[in-house]
Amino acid sequence: MSDNRDYIFGINQTELDRLEFQQSVWKNVTDDFFRRIKIQKGWKCLDVGAGPGFVTMDLSGLVGETGEVTALEPSEFYLNYLKEECRKKNIQNTQFIHGNLEDVKIENNYYDFIFMRWVIDFVPEPEKFLIKLLGSLKKGGMIAIEDYIYEGIALFPKGGAFDNISEVMKSYYNLQGGDLHFTAKVPSIFRKNNIELVEYKPVSLAGDMDSGVIEWAHKFFNVHLQLMADKKIITQKEADNLLEDWLKHRYDPETVFFSPVIVDITGLKIS
Ligand SMILES: C[S@@+](CC[C@H](N)C(=O)[O-])C[C@H]1O[C@@H](n2cnc3c(N)ncnc32)[C@H](O)[C@@H]1O
Repeated sequence: MSDNRDYIFGINQTELDRLEFQQSVWKNVTDDFFRRIKIQKGWKCLDVGAGPGFVTMDLSGLVGETGEVTALEPSEFYLNYLKEECRKKNIQNTQFIHGNLEDVKIENNYYDFIFMRWVIDFVPEPEKFLIKLLGSLKKGGMIAIEDYIYEGIALFPKGGAFDNISEVMKSYYNLQGGDLHFTAKVPSIFRKNNIELVEYKPVSLAGDMDSGVIEWAHKFFNVHLQLMADKKIITQKEADNLLEDWLKHRYDPETVFFSPVIVDITGLKIS
């Protein structure tokens, strides 16, 4: 199934399963971020690029019956999954917008809280994307971004093809205009648009062969290194060497894996 040509990692059950596993590994990081933000009952929230809505559902519990959470998502497949989960769990304070943010109409000066996790680094015009969202935020509202600054990823012991993975990943995102360093531009965009930078916090996970974080990375590289070769980002030989180095480490008790850095960014709309 493919109903969103723009999402480079694909719209299918394998990717949905990967996103679900990803949520299980990173949920604590996002929950801590939300605790620091102090999300309030009654808030109106927008979850941009919600995917299958794992965070949408968490947010809906945090804002309670008097609040509302709108999931904005271009993939009908992911949105239908979320609608069905909300029906099964009797979650009633969610709404849905189907489409790419660039193409849909969203309310002006409406939301108390706008969130996006692993979305803005994919989009071809991220500054424009962010500015559209800022228009939709109420005065006094908060915008929160959780996304990569794709540095720090490392597989120990070092010395193999995987040492170059960060450059390879940047080329993968660039293929459709994404920027894995966009989070470094956010503070200056906030400053130009009257948004106070409340938090800018790097987070990383690390673990050995039994950790969730290495399995999270495995689910990605085991599928996507070949897709990168198919899309001519790297040669078949490079993909084979990267995968060989990855698999050599994956089940080795000597291995320690570090995730790339994710940045938790919060901005407050002051006027
Ligand atoms: C890596 S997934 C993250 C899903 C979810 N935010 C999470 O953390 O589990 C990226 C999501 O962004 C969505 N997306 C991609 N481009 C988008 C755009 N231009 N506007 C809105 N959503 C977009 C994709 O369809 C996909 O569901």
